Order: sequence, then structure tokens, then C-alpha cells
Amino acid sequence: MEKRKIGNIEVSAIGMGCMGFSHGYGEIPTESYSIEAIQKAFDFGCTFFDTAETYGPNVLPENYGHNEKILAKALKDVRKDVVIATKLHLPTDEAKTIGIYETLKRHLEKSLENLQTDYVDLYYLHRINPDIPIEDVAEGMGKLINEGLIKGWGLSQVPVDIIEKAHKITPLSAIQNIYSMIERSIEDDVAPYCVKNNIGIVPFSPIASGFLSGKVTTQTDFSHSDDVRKFIPQLRKENIEANQPILDLLAEYAEKKNATKAQISLAWMLHKYPNIVPIPGSKNKERIIENLGAWNVILSDEEFENLEKALNLIPVHGFRGHVEIEGGKMEDWNREKPKK
Ligand SMILES: NC(=O)c1ccc[n+]([C@@H]2O[C@H](COP(=O)([O-])OP(=O)(O)OC[C@H]3O[C@@H](n4cnc5c(N)ncnc54)[C@H](OP(=O)(O)O)[C@@H]3O)[C@@H](O)[C@H]2O)c1
Repeated sequence: MEKRKIGNIEVSAIGMGCMGFSHGYGEIPTESYSIEAIQKAFDFGCTFFDTAETYGPNVLPENYGHNEKILAKALKDVRKDVVIATKLHLPTDEAKTIGIYETLKRHLEKSLENLQTDYVDLYYLHRINPDIPIEDVAEGMGKLINEGLIKGWGLSQVPVDIIEKAHKITPLSAIQNIYSMIERSIEDDVAPYCVKNNIGIVPFSPIASGFLSGKVTTQTDFSHSDDVRKFIPQLRKENIEANQPILDLLAEYAEKKNATKAQISLAWMLHKYPNIVPIPGSKNKERIIENLGAWNVILSDEEFENLEKALNLIPVHGFRGHVEIEGGKMEDWNREKPKK
């Protein structure tokens, strides 16, 4: 697969979001199935794997590390050939009691143990904690880089002013914000800033939690206790119906390019930004390969521009759930998006 740079870290042009093997999209597969799926992705050319300390069934504290441990087993023989990204939360109490750097290091050490490795390639702060100055986090991450415990660091779900402050202290390798054809707010300022400053853009939920594949319908059942889709306003029945014109547009290009809708949505963002590396998530072996195969669906400049023009004319109904901060709850996604 084509390689791209996020900061100075080289990765496959499409990475793999591993969350679904442990949390977020209903019933999880068996551990052996998940391990095989990850290994199949590697064999296909994927070298970039995304996880987090909290990914575990129902994100219950006793299940933290579930996803990291699966990755450890799947990638143990190829550790040096892959880039592993994981994330930490920074609770105020802990940081105020033992210190910010010490908290970062304590969480990292637990992830290293779960991942059965002695370094993490990319370590993200999962959510901004407004009680803790981002400059102090950046400084702590810089120390971890100097100690060789992490190769680079990143931020997730962040606005541009925070990115700017952090990047000045310890240069960032990547920003992991939500981005897809129906959630494009990073195009305003975050993505241009990242392009200008050599920071990788790693979109999460790039297929809009499955919607852009066309396989999520008003009949899809989100009732499992660990299915985040029930909280996503864009996936309310009325919005699934109202957003069908986007799927019609994807279907037109899918036919033209002999690809799937999910692949077109990924090919679109790969064309748009040179430093973008989406991490689609799937717990299904065939869909994982389908999504990774999008790197090979090349849109010409003209095709991209026509697609983009048509997309810009289609209104998007509902929102994904606005930027959360440390301690935020998925239930909050149902609140109306604050106006700018
Ligand atoms: N930083 C953060 O705060 C944050 C938040 C959320 C996620 N993430 C990361 O980003 C990764 C991706 O995000 P995501 O999983 O939320 O969203 P996503 O990739 O947009 O969508 C995942 C959903 O779409 C379905 N899907 C994926 N590819 C498909 C295809 N080709 N055809 C049909 N359905 C398809 C999956 O179902 P199946 O499993 O049934 O295929 C799953 O239900 C996660 O795995 C995680 O690593 C990070």
C-alpha cells in the first residue's frame, strides 16, 4: 500500500481503527477472530493500528486494556514493522495529586504492559481537560519522547487554538478529530493548520459510523448496550432518510470507479489532503480489506472536483455530536450543536 507521513512517522495511507473489536458497535467478535482480522490487515499492507487505553466492553474500568491486549497478541511478530497509536485520558484528580508528567507516564506504562512493547509510536491525549494547561501536557509528552518511550504525540477532538499552543511546545505528529463527508468542520481551520505545519490528520469515524457505506438503514438495530450509534444524531431515522442524497452521489461514483460507497468516501479524503490517513473501523474481515482497498481507488483531479462540487450542494441533516471534553458523556451528543 502507498505510504504517507504523519509528522515524521511513516504509515500506510489507510490505517485500521481497532475500537470495534472491544467497544462501540454492538456485539464484539471472539478474540481469535479479532486477532486474525488484524493480521489479515497487516498482510494486506496496513501498518497503522489505532487503539486506546479505555477500549473495552462498555468502556468499564475493569475492561480497560481489552483492545490493547488484542493488538499485542496480533502484532507481536511484526512489532517493529508497524505503527501503534494509543490514547490516554488525563483525569484532573490524578494530575493534581501526582503531577501531569507522572500521570502521563503512569498511563503510558499501563498501555506498554497491555501492548507488550517498550515504546508507543504515537501517543494521543484522548480528550482535552480544560483544568489542565495544554502547554504542560505538551511538555510532559516532550519528556516521554526524549526518554524514547513514545515516538510522537497527538491530540484528539481539538480546536485549532489548542493545537497551536501545544505544537509550539512539543511539535505534534498528528491530530485525530472526527472527519467524514458528512462531518467536515475540520476543513475550516484544523486541517489547513495541519497541512501548513506538517501535522498528520487522522480522521476518526471516516465512514460516518457506517452511514457512508450505505449499509446502515432505518432498520439497523442500535439497541445493544455498547452501541454508540444510538447517541449519534445523524443516525436518527429521520436523518438517515434525509441524508440519502449523499448516498446517491456516492453510488454514482462507486459505479463509475468500480468501487464501493465506503471506498469512494475514503478516496475522496485521500485526494483532498496529502497528509491525511483515515482509520476506518470494522470488526468484519471482508469490510476491513474493502476499506483498506480504497487506497487503490484513485480519483482524477477532475473527478475529485466534480464530486466535491456536488457534495457541497447537498445539505447535511443532523450532526454527529459536538466536541466533547474530558469527563464528557456520549449522552451529551444529543444536545444541539452550539452555534459558532
Ligand atoms: N479519537 C476518538 O475520540 C475516536 C472516537 C471514535 C473512534 N475512534 C477511532 O477511529 C476508528 C474508526 O472510527 P469508527 O469506528 O467510529 O467509525 P467508522 O470507521 O466511520 O465506522 C465504523 C462502523 O461502520 C461500519 N463499517 C465500516 N466499514 C464498512 C463498510 N465498508 N461497509 C459497511 N459498514 C462498514 C462498521 O461496521 P462493521 O464493524 O460491522 O463492519 C462500524 O459499525 C475507531 O476504530 C477508533 O480506533 C477514535
